[in-house]
Amino acid sequence: MLSLLLPLISLIFQIQCFTVESQPVPLNQICSNVTGNFTVNTPYAVNLDRLISSFSSLQSNDNGFYNISVGDSDEKVNSISQCRGDVKPEDCINCIAMAGKRLVTLCPVQKEAIIWYDKCTFRYSNRTIFNRLEIFPHTSITGTRNFTGDRDAWEKSLRGLLEGLKNRASVIGRSKKNFVVGETSGPSFQTLYGLVQCTPDISEEDCSYCLSQGIAKIPSCCDLKMGSYVLSPSCIVAYATWRFYDPVDTDEPSSVPATPSRPPKNETRTVMQGDKNRGVPPKALIFAAASVVIVVLLIVFLVVFLRLRRKKMIKNSEHKNENISTDSMRFNFSVLQDATSHFSLENKLGEGGFGAVYKGVLSDGQKIAVKRLSKNAQQGETEFKNEFLLVAKLQHRNLVKLLGYSIEGTERLLVYEFLPHTSLDKFIFDPIEGKQLEWEIRYKIIGGVARGLLYLHQDSRLRIIHRDLKASNILLDEEMTPKISDFGMARLFDMDHTTQRYTNRIVGTFGYMAPEYVTHGQFSFKTDVYSFGVLVLEIISGKKNSCFSNEDSIEDLLSFAWRNWKEGVALNLVDKILMTMSSYSSNMILRCINIGLLCVQEKVAERPSMASVLLMLDGHTTALSEPSKPAFFSPSNAVSDSSSSLGHNAKTSNYNSNTELYPR
Ligand SMILES: *[C@@H]1O[C@H](CO)[C@@H](O)[C@H](O)[C@H]1NC(C)=O
Ligand SMILES: *[C@@H]1O[C@H](CO)[C@@H](O)[C@H](O)[C@H]1NC(C)=O
Ligand SMILES: *[C@@H]1O[C@H](CO)[C@@H](O)[C@H](O)[C@H]1NC(C)=O
Ligand SMILES: *[C@@H]1O[C@H](CO)[C@@H](O)[C@H](O)[C@H]1NC(C)=O
Ligand SMILES: *[C@@H]1O[C@H](CO)[C@@H](O)[C@H](O)[C@H]1NC(C)=O
Ligand SMILES: *[C@@H]1O[C@H](CO)[C@@H](O)[C@H](O)[C@H]1NC(C)=O
Repeated sequence: MLSLLLPLISLIFQIQCFTVESQPVPLNQICSNVTGNFTVNTPYAVNLDRLISSFSSLQSNDNGFYNISVGDSDEKVNSISQCRGDVKPEDCINCIAMAGKRLVTLCPVQKEAIIWYDKCTFRYSNRTIFNRLEIFPHTSITGTRNFTGDRDAWEKSLRGLLEGLKNRASVIGRSKKNFVVGETSGPSFQTLYGLVQCTPDISEEDCSYCLSQGIAKIPSCCDLKMGSYVLSPSCIVAYATWRFYDPVDTDEPSSVPATPSRPPKNETRTVMQGDKNRGVPPKALIFAAASVVIVVLLIVFLVVFLRLRRKKMIKNSEHKNENISTDSMRFNFSVLQDATSHFSLENKLGEGGFGAVYKGVLSDGQKIAVKRLSKNAQQGETEFKNEFLLVAKLQHRNLVKLLGYSIEGTERLLVYEFLPHTSLDKFIFDPIEGKQLEWEIRYKIIGGVARGLLYLHQDSRLRIIHRDLKASNILLDEEMTPKISDFGMARLFDMDHTTQRYTNRIVGTFGYMAPEYVTHGQFSFKTDVYSFGVLVLEIISGKKNSCFSNEDSIEDLLSFAWRNWKEGVALNLVDKILMTMSSYSSNMILRCINIGLLCVQEKVAERPSMASVLLMLDGHTTALSEPSKPAFFSPSNAVSDSSSSLGHNAKTSNYNSNTELYPR
């Protein structure tokens, strides 16, 4: 029966995982305050409505530019939509339809508005906007990193690249997308990538002028930034030291040298004075928005952090010394009940294998996380206290801190520090939050988890096997430092000790459990290493192992990673979001994929220890060994004699429950 159940469970997983629509976030939108407002049920409102609904039946065209007007005379709604030149026609139409719906909700009364997505720009107005050069307002978005080498050389290459692109764009002609990309080698071994695009309704001269204005702005807006975007309604200029666009055929052999620059005519530009003030940046790049978000978040977190810190210092001064005593860490049950509003649903942060976790606020304002252990694991009060003390002594920068416990009747509760960012799975598996996770941050998280795990395995007095390492057990603090939670649970659940009652219980999570653990109940430090390997591959791919699918077939993440590794195209695994970010480094990512695959190897003895993993992560130059075939975890080879993924009450036998036995 179990063998029937398991595929079913995995199916449910897959369905759950993939029903979440990834709705892109607009990068910017501006509701114009100059052309006035309309009211509901007026002809303008009706026309606008018709315009937006017409997008659902829009016929795609080749140049990704759409000029649609609805209505007549002074109640006419004019719109322009344009996709970035490297966007596929079907994605383009979807982007425009989404942008339209979004913009009318964001700007419910304005006659003129503009919205800017990564892939498309959409704007409308009651005035004529077709065939007009509009360069105001300029908007610029920059990354955070500065170029630190030779300034003159940098400026020279950048200017050369962009001027070249500008000249090419202005000769491509109006029928095309007016979209040009190119690259050049810059100083300090950097390659500079550039992109320019004009709307095709403006003349070649206007396009050239618009781009010149954008390029001219770079020294003031984006001095020495390694990636920047300068945007205006009629054109965009972008560059970065990494390739941020898709390869594209721009209707022009890229080997053709830039045509000589034609100086822009300096006739007076009358466009866009006074009455148009809508900011309308076209196409944009994820990283720019992400960096803005990160800066804002950092400021917020700094403030929150300092406040928490102050409170915590007062609180901790009471019970923060080396000789922790159980009494100073014991919380009254009623205090925790009050702190969590009687474990209310609103305060529930999540539910793990060992019980539910609630957010709480103590009377002095300190925030805590309270884990209410599920009742089927009761230990005597003294035993629980003793185990708690041992586990509470495990202190490491990459472990969540235990602040206390509480016992009341059969209730067993653990009090942890509260981490505002919740857990890693909320970031890596979410297409929107994932944008906050640059490669540098992901790399830092991988390293932090490895250090925390090494401490548990080797450096702590207890030498603990975690047994349930997974993305939702990695919490993140204000600085995105990863902290492993739920360690020592086996002890607190009395599974490693004398009684036989719970030793047959498999804990762990579908997709993270090493096959030898699932099928034979054998666990060791290397089962944690396996889970770590899965985690690394998930962090790189942004996909869950337990519900991975790609377009062609249902194949789990490990099989996919392994197949691509063998075919020499391991980078196919990488999260698309990651590729657009500034800190993207294919060498380091390949190294991490290699390490991840070494950790999930089928032969337990071949998996590295966490100590070697750390050496591999830190040594950027030493060559890594070639991984052998991973232990594919698929429902069909796991069902044999275990219970499930979600793992309770397995009736397995050779259960080696002693954490101390495994040789270092
Ligand atoms: C429109 O908004 C801009 C920027 O906020 C402001 O400078 C300008 O005065 C506003 N114009 C009107 C007509 O409200
Ligand atoms: C248009 O509506 C916006 C938002 O309700 C308001 O702030 C603005 O003053 C209005 N403008 C005019 C010209 O009525
Ligand atoms: C764009 O719209 C304008 C104004 O409605 C119209 O004159 C023009 O022919 C349209 N051009 C295209 C290519 O649809
Ligand atoms: C657009 O609407 C505003 C405010 O209702 C009006 O003053 C202006 O004349 C309109 N423009 C056109 C071209 O109809
Ligand atoms: C880049 O340079 C700007 C101004 O020169 C400075 O404010 C900023 O902190 C620098 N950023 C980094 C990441 O060093
Ligand atoms: C065009 O502008 C350049 C530089 O701004 C100036 O030197 C030149 O005299 C101008 N030409 C005309 C025809 O206005």
